Amino acid sequence: MFIKIEIKKKIGLLTINRPDALNAMNLEVLKELDKSVHSLIKDDDVGVIIITGAGEKAFIAGADIKLMQGLNSKSGYEFARLGQKVTLTIENSPKPVIAAVNGFALGGGCEISLACHMRFASENAMFAQPEVKLGLIPGWGGTQRLPRIVGKGHAIELIIGGQMINVEKAVQIGLVNKVFPLNNLIKETTLFCNLILRNGPGSLKDSLACINDSAGKTIYEGLENEAKVFGNRFETKETSEGLNAFIQKRSPKF
Ligand code: CAA
Repeated sequence: MFIKIEIKKKIGLLTINRPDALNAMNLEVLKELDKSVHSLIKDDDVGVIIITGAGEKAFIAGADIKLMQGLNSKSGYEFARLGQKVTLTIENSPKPVIAAVNGFALGGGCEISLACHMRFASENAMFAQPEVKLGLIPGWGGTQRLPRIVGKGHAIELIIGGQMINVEKAVQIGLVNKVFPLNNLIKETTLFCNLILRNGPGSLKDSLACINDSAGKTIYEGLENEAKVFGNRFETKETSEGLNAFIQKRSPKF
């Protein structure tokens, strides 16, 4: 078992637990992560998901390099597709997923964090897409999601330079949302999750879906979709409760 799951007060904490290899991801880890995210998505006791790495050194040090030594074009394509499937499971989660990056987030590890809806990091976190140093390219969405998050210029610098950046630089380019001391990372991430959990779960899901859908749409199509989803909210009990609670000067009960 490479993934530890803990559920407390509507927060599902997933820990990638392969510290001897700095949580590098082989086929088993990838498949287990996919299954674990799906199980938390289905679980009514979970409203928000946190993904972190075991130990104090690494979030995920990338795809397993030893495994990649044995790949050819067919199995390499399949390995990329499997990693991409996991990133899509995370990105398309109707429940917010936060990466709590507690150290190295390299290659596929950085790409798993990019699929999460937000990245909170410890002061010792380091990010890189170092694939070019191995004669590779990012294979789990780095060439697609990194430019969308930090802009094309910063993404190209990171992908063709292959260099590691520290957390200050990661914040500066918009890769990281918040930074905390390592020993407070999960506690502070949990506090932010509690803030999210006060909001309507349907509106969280619809907001994430509209943002994700925008990737394949023109702004006109995206705005049309947003207006439809906005309109449909008025048919939900959740929205009536939110609006009534404001008028009645009380907290909503979602
Ligand atoms: N795959 C497999 N094993 C890995 C690994 C990886 N990505 N990263 C680290 N490990 C293993 C090391 O082999 C080592 O194992 P042994 O003790 O059995 O030798 C153990 O983890 C500890 O690592 P180090 O001794 O190297 O620790 P360090 O503190 O000296 O260095 C590091 C840490 C800078 C993260 C270094 O381990 C490193 O550079 N790792 C590789 C990072 C990398 O290139 N990742 C990208 C992979 S490509 C990819 O992910 C493709 C994609 O887009 C999907």
